[in-house]
Amino acid sequence: MEKIVILTGAGISAESGLSTFRDEGGLWAQHRIEDVATPEGFARDPALVQGFYNARRVQASKVQPNAAHEALARLQRDWPGDVVIVTQNVDSLHEAGGAKDVIHMHGTLAGALCSACGHRWTAPPEMAVGESCPACARPTARPDVVWFGEMPYFMDEIYDHLASASLFAAIGTSGQVYPAAAFVHEAQAAGARTIEINLEPSPGTSGFDERLVGKATQTVPRWVGHLLAPHT
Ligand code: OAD
Repeated sequence: MEKIVILTGAGISAESGLSTFRDEGGLWAQHRIEDVATPEGFARDPALVQGFYNARRVQASKVQPNAAHEALARLQRDWPGDVVIVTQNVDSLHEAGGAKDVIHMHGTLAGALCSACGHRWTAPPEMAVGESCPACARPTARPDVVWFGEMPYFMDEIYDHLASASLFAAIGTSGQVYPAAAFVHEAQAAGARTIEINLEPSPGTSGFDERLVGKATQTVPRWVGHLLAPHT
């Protein structure tokens, strides 16, 4: 049975009320990446970085999944083959919408990570600077999110999925950040058909076979309905 691999980005959560990064007024218009999303920024000013992620964690706890998250969960449930969701998002809206086994390649706001021993645990709503690790007791707690200059999580698993995909979809992502931006080429090399679903054609979309333009809450349910029609 056909395997579908889906990559999602901030655009899928935009209509739930979470900011994207590169749209006008997005997070990277308000904060410098070097300050809040690099290990060097954290070493320089941990209070600024913890504050940035604390605010995002609070905001993420207040929002609800939208019709696009729910449609992908329906696709996972009703598609006769595998549907693998890989997300660059650190929110938990896919899970809240009913999706299973979501691969969070950039980590999650719900997690804390010890930068000394690598232990992981559930993040409190507000992480304090110098909070100690429950395993090694050193004051080295940080958000379990992947920063620029760090290796995203689950890469071997993701490349294995891409190598066996029949259909690859990128939803709500600008395709500016690697390695996720190159997944379309990996999937194509494996013989998959590729589709981009986004508010606007993203700069790197020449690589896609097909493109659906519009708001995720409209385009994604329509796309899922189309895929599932022969199976219902
Ligand atoms: P971006 O902010 O770069 O791109 C979001 C994309 O979603 C844009 O192409 C928008 O046009 C599109 N979009 C906005 N609203 C939409 C809607 N309602 N429906 C559909 N599409 C919509 O976000 P990402 O591509 O996710 O990484 O960013 C990738 C990574 O860069 C993030 O994971 C983060 C960031 O720096 C790290 O922090 C490591």
